Amino acid sequence: MPTEIKAAVFRQVGEPLSVETVELDDLAPDEVRVSVVGSGLCHSDLHVIDGSLPVPHLPAILGHEVAGIVLEVGAHVQDINVGDHVVAGITTHCDSCPGCASGRTWLCEQRFAPGIRTDPLTKLRSGDTLIGGIGGMSGFAEQVILHRSAAVVIDPSMPLDRAALIGCAVVTGVGTVINAARVRPGDTCAVIGCGGVGLNVVQGAQLAGAGRIIAVDLSSPKLELATRFGATDIVNPADGDPIEAVMSLTGGRGVDYAFEAIGLKSTSEQALAMTKPGGGAYLIGVVSPGVDLEVPGLELVLDNKSLCGVRMGSSNMANDFPYFVELYQQGRLMLDELVSERITLAEVNDGYEKMQAGEQARSVVVFEPPTRS
Ligand SMILES: NC(=O)c1ccc[n+]([C@@H]2O[C@H](COP(=O)([O-])OP(=O)(O)OC[C@H]3O[C@@H](n4cnc5c(N)ncnc54)[C@H](O)[C@@H]3O)[C@@H](O)[C@H]2O)c1
Ligand SMILES: [Zn+2]
Ligand SMILES: [Zn+2]
Repeated sequence: MPTEIKAAVFRQVGEPLSVETVELDDLAPDEVRVSVVGSGLCHSDLHVIDGSLPVPHLPAILGHEVAGIVLEVGAHVQDINVGDHVVAGITTHCDSCPGCASGRTWLCEQRFAPGIRTDPLTKLRSGDTLIGGIGGMSGFAEQVILHRSAAVVIDPSMPLDRAALIGCAVVTGVGTVINAARVRPGDTCAVIGCGGVGLNVVQGAQLAGAGRIIAVDLSSPKLELATRFGATDIVNPADGDPIEAVMSLTGGRGVDYAFEAIGLKSTSEQALAMTKPGGGAYLIGVVSPGVDLEVPGLELVLDNKSLCGVRMGSSNMANDFPYFVELYQQGRLMLDELVSERITLAEVNDGYEKMQAGEQARSVVVFEPPTRS
């Protein structure tokens, strides 16, 4: 019997998300049903809402930064129990393909294979209309169904509204620094775009012991926040060319690592231009389909530079999520400061308007935890 849940449904570009009752399917044997407690607003959803990143199917339920409490487990699930607190991750995986077998679960080849229901389209409907999601998730809803590999059990003392941020902003930002770039103590870093993801790049660089962390953003409040998250220097491109500013702050050399967390062609190209010989540019921001980057090939080769795209922080979630929880509990990962606002599901459109205006680090939709029977 399908379960009726409330969710914010996105029907088409230009229209606000509307809170509706939809039906969520029964569990498959490898899945868990989760009562969502926190669901963060990420700019990737906003790219879908503003039409710059089409999703394969509309209507869709967006939202992919989720934490909650397990309500039900499928017959084949052995390591997750009803009542467990989980952070959801979109890097669903099979554990047996060559990618998974090498420990790089984020490169799973079977992610979209039949048998792993990553697509919300197979789980959600409104009457006869099938409903899709984003990246395999549909988090602006009272409940989600997750493949067991996409639900990571965490310490129940961790507040779930902040735990939600681990599922995207934290794993993407901190994960890129630690897993992909592997920043070492003393390295210099520049972070272009200091929203929810970029602030986590900044704090990841601080955790890694980076020597100089240069935050670049057009918003002065974001730059102030970046300083609290560990930035040693700030650059506002409104005051002049950010490449020249970064060069001047680094004695004309450039940085070891530049991270782009906006998704623009211009800033992605800036990231490579501000790295020093032997350095690397790590692109996190989602560039719109059809947008090609122009890279100076000769400089890339002769200066031994690298250019790397990173999805979801190249993270093995089962390893990294509990580690992020521990860092938060020890006071070494700033999550309280990342939540600008806690909102209801009905306020999700206002939350995205504020993100568009550059006002918020992260807004989180908060649902009542389930009552125990
Ligand atoms: N690769 C991944 O796995 C992954 C995961 C999550 C998010 N993302 C992407 O990362 C990007 C950032 O997401 P977010 O949620 O942090 O967004 P956000 O809106 O919270 O932050 C973007 C920041 O960029 C700043 N900005 C905008 N234009 C600028 C410019 N020209 N120069 C300098 N600063 C500028 C804004 O002021 C804002 O602070 C998005 O493209 C999102 O889709 C990628
Ligand atoms: Zn995201
Ligand atoms: Zn796999």
